[in-house]
Amino acid sequence: MRIGILTAGGDAPGLNAAIRAAGELALRDGHDVIGVANGWAGLVHEFTASPLYDRDLRGIIGQGGTLLGTERFDLDHPAGGRDRVLESIGENLDALIAIGGDGTQRISSWLADRGAPIVGVPKTLDNDLLGTDYCIGFDTAISIVAESLDRLYTTAASHHRVMVVETMGRSTGWVAALGGLAGGADLVVVPEFPMTIEEIIEHVNHRRRNGLMFSIIAVAEGVHLDTLGGVESSRLSTEGIGGVRLATRGVGNFLANKLEELAGFDVRTTVLGHLQRGGAPTAHDRIWATRVGAGAYKAVIEQKFGTIPVVRNNQVTLVPLTEVAGGQRKLPREIYDLCSIFF
Ligand code: F6P
Repeated sequence: MRIGILTAGGDAPGLNAAIRAAGELALRDGHDVIGVANGWAGLVHEFTASPLYDRDLRGIIGQGGTLLGTERFDLDHPAGGRDRVLESIGENLDALIAIGGDGTQRISSWLADRGAPIVGVPKTLDNDLLGTDYCIGFDTAISIVAESLDRLYTTAASHHRVMVVETMGRSTGWVAALGGLAGGADLVVVPEFPMTIEEIIEHVNHRRRNGLMFSIIAVAEGVHLDTLGGVESSRLSTEGIGGVRLATRGVGNFLANKLEELAGFDVRTTVLGHLQRGGAPTAHDRIWATRVGAGAYKAVIEQKFGTIPVVRNNQVTLVPLTEVAGGQRKLPREIYDLCSIFF
């Protein structure tokens, strides 16, 4: 078989571990492994791909990024991109493993409905793919958030300051909440559970009344400005295409300015940005990316197309792509409440 592998959307630490797992297993069974360059872009105009050999896959489990390259490529503007991808898969590959987040898996599901021999792999640093407890990259991201908060803690305490830390999380608060929980943030502000600016000020004042003269607030980049007393002027990006890039929209700075202006606190902002996506994956990401990558290869061999290996109850389970492709998994109340206890 000619088995293609692509990575689409934003990169995430652990992608190479998944490519390695699926690729190595396929090579061992005597198949050709084709690395498609730059996500869907590699299938649209010309077929941009090259064979992957054992030597390409060796030593990459601990490397961040993706050896295949990736792009945020809009297949619907101009129209016809999806049909071209469908044709290209038919002409060039016997199966395709598409590693990506909700946008990628929506396309994969559309292609599978039209007969493409496609299997997904769950990846999004934001951890909000439906139907899976694990997404490639998330564990590394929250480890970086936690380490950053550890560092900010000492300087915040020394200067009696409020530190606002903006994390990734385009539509959901998983990174802010679990990174914040691990790093001891005393307040997390996330899209799922909106807070007013007055409530945030009261939180800082409550700490002050209890002798805690500094505060660390983790805010997800996707929090709507209007919930904080601002105006949400631009359409929020769903794919990073056509809308605003959330990190440049500046919710962290906006919140910091409001806190200074309305309450007179001494505030500093740190936007963690792409530091959360760069560098080596954690052991957790390496292991689970390997497991879902191996699961995708198994699905290909068993011709279970239109599916995606997900993680549920610590097991890799194969489910239809339609189960992950229809929305975002929101942060549960229970985790959010736990974040509010320790301050
Ligand atoms: O989807 C993952 C993510 O890291 C989001 O958290 C973030 O908003 C977006 O990608 C940034 O994308 P880009 O690298 O294209 O700016």
